[in-house]
Amino acid sequence: MITIAVANQKGGVGKTTSAVNLATAMAAMGWRTLLVDLDPQGNASTGLGVNAEDRGNSSYELLVDGIALEECVVSTAIPNLDLVPAKVDLSGAEIELVEMHDRTGLLGAGLAGAGYDICFIDCPPSLGLLTLNALTAANKLLVPLQCEFYALEGLSQLLRTVEQVRERFNPEMEIVGIALTMFDRRNRLTDQVSDDVRGVLGKLVFESVVPRNVRLSEAPSHGLPAIVYDHNCSGSRAYMDLARELIERLPERRKAA
Ligand SMILES: Nc1ncnc2c1ncn2[C@@H]1O[C@H](COP(=O)(O)OP(=O)(O)O)[C@@H](O)[C@H]1O
Ligand SMILES: [Mg+2]
Repeated sequence: MITIAVANQKGGVGKTTSAVNLATAMAAMGWRTLLVDLDPQGNASTGLGVNAEDRGNSSYELLVDGIALEECVVSTAIPNLDLVPAKVDLSGAEIELVEMHDRTGLLGAGLAGAGYDICFIDCPPSLGLLTLNALTAANKLLVPLQCEFYALEGLSQLLRTVEQVRERFNPEMEIVGIALTMFDRRNRLTDQVSDDVRGVLGKLVFESVVPRNVRLSEAPSHGLPAIVYDHNCSGSRAYMDLARELIERLPERRKAA
């Protein structure tokens, strides 16, 4: 299984929007897809119309209680897309995990042997133990970067964390790409930011850029991914392009899925 952590310790950069829409795009292309909501705010869960507080298990039970994945998964309205939802309890996990044995390897253990082609992990906006679990469970990291003046600020800290995870827990993990989000064509600054980011990070940056698009922000209130809510809006088309580009960057054996 290809496991992609969607992470950036900054909040509001498009992690959840990217995780939900890329997962939906992959599912639509026939990949058996799992999305793990690892943010206590549960935005990926509500964005898929799932209220985790109403039901039994969630990413908290998967991680902290070691409950089997099959018992933590819910199916969504999207064919091929399953979800491990998040509950607010997960905010306590950051502290509970400190005391636990193999505290960064718990998510990886929970996902081991899962029968999906691809798994996306929507991370919380921090570099704490939840995100470390995601980076340790993942073989790829996808970083959404908002096209704003301070876009690159904080990225060096994220890259340092990636190096530490590679050295200590997960030597195989690598950055699959950096996705520029909330690009505003009418704003010259975002052009400048995008040029700067490409100058610094080169080919790591996906060519497809996600525009600022109000449909992307409306869709979650309908409990639907934008790609389903309005498949033809500019944001949905950008995420479909991004998904195709992502597939090109994945190991050969999976492209046929
Ligand atoms: N490309 C976009 N255009 C417009 N709004 C967006 C876009 N991407 C995300 N948003 C909105 O911005 C807010 C933050 O995005 P989100 O994906 O939740 O970021 P994060 O998970 O990094 O905190 C949300 O309200 C979301 O709906
Ligand atoms: Mg989020």
